Amino acid sequence: MAETSITITQPDDWHVHLRDGAMLEQVAGFTARQFGRAIIMPNLTPPVTTVAAAAAYRDRILAATSDYPEFKPLMTAYLTDSIAVDEIHRGFVEGVFTAAKLYPAGATTNSDAGVTDVKKIYPVLEAMQNIGMPLLVHGEVVSNEIDIFDREAVFIERIMQPLLNDMPELKVVFEHITTKDAAEFVAAEGDNIAATITVHHLQINRNDMLVGGIKPHLYCLPVAKRELHRQALRAAATSESGKFFLGTDTAPHAIGAKESACGCAGIFSAPHALENYVQVFEEENALDQFEAFASLNGPAFYGLPVNNKTITLEKQAQQVPVQIGEDDLAISPYRAGETLAWKLVTG
Ligand code: DOR
Ligand code: ZN
Repeated sequence: MAETSITITQPDDWHVHLRDGAMLEQVAGFTARQFGRAIIMPNLTPPVTTVAAAAAYRDRILAATSDYPEFKPLMTAYLTDSIAVDEIHRGFVEGVFTAAKLYPAGATTNSDAGVTDVKKIYPVLEAMQNIGMPLLVHGEVVSNEIDIFDREAVFIERIMQPLLNDMPELKVVFEHITTKDAAEFVAAEGDNIAATITVHHLQINRNDMLVGGIKPHLYCLPVAKRELHRQALRAAATSESGKFFLGTDTAPHAIGAKESACGCAGIFSAPHALENYVQVFEEENALDQFEAFASLNGPAFYGLPVNNKTITLEKQAQQVPVQIGEDDLAISPYRAGETLAWKLVTG
């Protein structure tokens, strides 16, 4: 008989964009309502490059999530060509930085200050390898001659593999993987390499974004790929491997910035993240693997305890609002207006 309810250890979200100011106030609760902890991306304007900036941002997040006092934001440093080894090292030792994020310069939203050549930050990466500090990687090359749909696969060959050859002990999370190539690469590497998988990359392929009219709210980076890649991601997420874990990459942008001649990349999936993930696991007949993916594999990789609460999801239809927020803060949530099969009932 089909399951009608599932109770698991409270999950964490290992990849979240919370923004700042009024947008932070508006979106943070959606993440804090469901998750025990979240890895907070540092691509603000200006980016979070110092221990002081991360500590101040953490305080703003805690203020914005005061309705959920147990929620713990885990802060990250934004790596630049000129970032000092000492700043990264000190931030990790002091417990402010949980990890550091590598954005290839120009790869995505607010990545202009990112890294132009990974060799330039080798001293920082060597220090991270020595202290066991995870490197979180946006794995796409930025060269103009590389097709956007090939940018992740080419990144593996040109950047990721050589980096791991040079630093075999570095802990690396290949963020938001979108290809069979990346899933196979991560599975074949040592235990120091893991990956996050978003819910949208498990649910949509590039046809969903482009057939029958362009859907700007399904545009994100890395962009959704062809169906065979989606299938490979579903197999990886539901496999018994401990290397794959939940990371929504929820990335709110105002509707006007998405529905534009040059629309921003990012999908605001936070509001019903767990309901959508559990749907995927149900469709794959893998509900027994859901807890490992959502709640156990991430803490094991980061060397953190699992959460001590549980959450329950029930088979209960609910409708996603068409819009969240008003005016400049209006956002279209992932699957806006659609009916979902599952509902988070406790947490
Ligand atoms: O789609 C995306 N949106 N991908 C990223 O890498 C960044 C994010 C954002 O910050 O909007
Ligand atoms: Zn992201």
